[in-house]
Amino acid sequence: MKLSFNEKTAKSAAKKYTRIVLTEKPKTFHRLVQTVAGTTEYHMGVGKFKDIKARTFITLIRSVVQAAKKHQIEHLVIDYDALAFPALKDLPAGWRASTIAENLLLSDYTFTKYKTGKGNKTELKEVLICGRLTAADKKGFKRGQTVGTYVNQARDIANTTGDDLTPSVLAKTAQTLAKGTKVKVTVLNHTQIKKAGLHALWAVGKGADDMPRLIVMEYYGAGKPVKNSKDKKKKPLVMVGKGITYDTGGLNVKPSGAMHDMHMDMSGGSSVIASIVCAAKLGLKKNIVAIIPAAENAVSDRAMRAGDIIQSHAGKTIEVMHTDAEGRLVLADGLSYSKKFHPRAVIDVATLTGAALAALGQHASALMTKNDTFSAKLRACGEESGDYVWPLPLWDEYKQHIKSDRADIANIAPNFSRFGGSIEGGTFLSFFAPKCPWAHLDIAPRMESISSDKLAKGSTGEPVRLLVKFLEQY
Ligand code: BES
Ligand code: ZN
Ligand code: ZN
Repeated sequence: MKLSFNEKTAKSAAKKYTRIVLTEKPKTFHRLVQTVAGTTEYHMGVGKFKDIKARTFITLIRSVVQAAKKHQIEHLVIDYDALAFPALKDLPAGWRASTIAENLLLSDYTFTKYKTGKGNKTELKEVLICGRLTAADKKGFKRGQTVGTYVNQARDIANTTGDDLTPSVLAKTAQTLAKGTKVKVTVLNHTQIKKAGLHALWAVGKGADDMPRLIVMEYYGAGKPVKNSKDKKKKPLVMVGKGITYDTGGLNVKPSGAMHDMHMDMSGGSSVIASIVCAAKLGLKKNIVAIIPAAENAVSDRAMRAGDIIQSHAGKTIEVMHTDAEGRLVLADGLSYSKKFHPRAVIDVATLTGAALAALGQHASALMTKNDTFSAKLRACGEESGDYVWPLPLWDEYKQHIKSDRADIANIAPNFSRFGGSIEGGTFLSFFAPKCPWAHLDIAPRMESISSDKLAKGSTGEPVRLLVKFLEQY
């Protein structure tokens, strides 16, 4: 889909365009209208204009694309002014333009890699936005196109099968995406992983044919920090993304119905890859590092066993009580490795627990941090971007549940209690996180889209929009 804008009015657009006319009628109202002037208009009810807030606005933009696709409209024109709802006034300059561009691209996305034949669907070829744009609007519009493109990149990676996207392929994909940008990519192979003491990552990935990789991406938009420098501004923000390219559960194999979508268990990884490259494309004057411990959690005679004890990168020994709690193992090493970069703050992003879906449903990711300022900032970025997050506690009381008799810590509660499963995951990670502000995002609830998202089925590409917004502001 081509996105363009001009300063004319939508009414004066050429006849090939169908003009979107929003009305205060109920959301069920839809009419395709032929005007006396010979043009086509699509009238859409959106409810009371005064009730349209950030959340509803995002869905509204996506509905426009859905409607266009349904009616096989190829060229759409929208009045920019008609999208200036009163409740959006207080949002930052450029927000509306950026949000329009992002969500037009997000809702236009389809994943067809595995579909043979072209189908007979006409595609939406162009959306033209008409009206006066301020400098902030123009900037926002451009930003939104870049952000939307990278969210869709993250979706492409996550939607690819575990057979096609193994750890080495994920590493190559990161290198390809970073090509032509100022992002430097380093990949540690399994020998280097063992040598570096990343034994938890090795343990999770050693059962698979394609060995684990540690993908490290560095972007120094604020200038490379000098060793031992106290310059706070140069300390990077580090993102650690879970890169499990397929999660069978390991020897504690997952039941049928719980495994088929586990090719998306690298969604944390793909979102941090897309976010750091997007930050570079936007030219952010920030220092950012992305670390993706990538492994396939396979069933094999070489696989990690329940009962094994691993010496993690941090030095702590971990008793593997359950091989399906593998995400926290690779992240433990990823978080510990992040200390090497003297981070200012660390965010890890992972499809960590099914329990996060039990807690929140599928409308928000779970946010865990002990830092209230960090929490508030991430929640605000979530609200503004549309990648919603909601907090769960990390109180010390939870620590006792993962004590191990045989090692320093157990990867799940040794009594196999499933209560508070997401907090248990976050608590485990807290033992490996650096001392700086750290937040854990359990994105399992947002791994796959649901119908109310008005997005294609499969990966949502979350939380790229949130991460980029946070990177712009931290
Ligand atoms: N990748 C899964 C979590 C998951 C489940 C993500 C559903 C997205 C949708 C993770 O590795 C896992 O298997 N977690 C276990 C933890 C348990 C063994 C403590 C779970 O959630 O059941
Ligand atoms: Zn698992
Ligand atoms: Zn997993």
